[in-house]
Amino acid sequence: MWRISRRALFWGKVLLHVAAALPIALLVLAVYRDDAGGDPVQYIIHFLGKGALNLLLLTLLVSPVAAWTKQGMLVQLRRPLGLWTFCYACLHLLAYISLDLLFAWQLLLQEVIKRPYIVVGACAWLILLSLALTSFKAAQRRMGKRWQQLHYGIYPAVLLVTIHYYWSVKSEIIEPSLYILLALLLLSFRLRKFSRKV
Ligand code: HEM
Repeated sequence: MWRISRRALFWGKVLLHVAAALPIALLVLAVYRDDAGGDPVQYIIHFLGKGALNLLLLTLLVSPVAAWTKQGMLVQLRRPLGLWTFCYACLHLLAYISLDLLFAWQLLLQEVIKRPYIVVGACAWLILLSLALTSFKAAQRRMGKRWQQLHYGIYPAVLLVTIHYYWSVKSEIIEPSLYILLALLLLSFRLRKFSRKV
């Protein structure tokens, strides 16, 4: 049977890094050229939040695609995709704290009361942080079985992010609803795999 070669996988990873870094470079360029809409701060926060969500969904797609195509090597793309997801999520959070709140920490409590979806986003970010910190081979070896259990945290994280998105929008609910459906679909693949194991 045809198998992806190591060389192809290497170039796949290079392409992945370029494709993930490029939108950030384009965002910087758009802001620099004054081409980031009427409210550049909102533009940046939304652009990075959406980027993080899309990357998170792509990370979750890797395992089912590797299983369907019987190309086990593809799972090696999960870690770089997961780390890029975390990078976008950190930039999204940083943009909010620096450009929107202007580091006025006393405002944060008022913001959380006014916009409770921020707490949901923060819970998702904390899960992503724990996954990124333990994404290295040494942590995987040291944690043994607990590593896999911790990394199942990606499923609640994607649900929390889609809720965060749905809750944050004021009128347009079709797109965030589609994201929730997609997250539930990916979750159902995982649950089916679990039920087959039991
Ligand atoms: C402490 C963590 C977080 C904070 C403070 C935060 C804050 C925000 C804010 C202020 C908005 C804009 C809402 C508005 O329209 O006014 C937003 C939207 C959004 N956030 Fe977050 N967020 C956090 C975590 C995350 C994470 C971890 C993800 C994804 C992995 C994420 C994805 C999104 C998405 C997809 C949107 C909607 C973008 C759009 O409407 O185009 N957020 N967030």
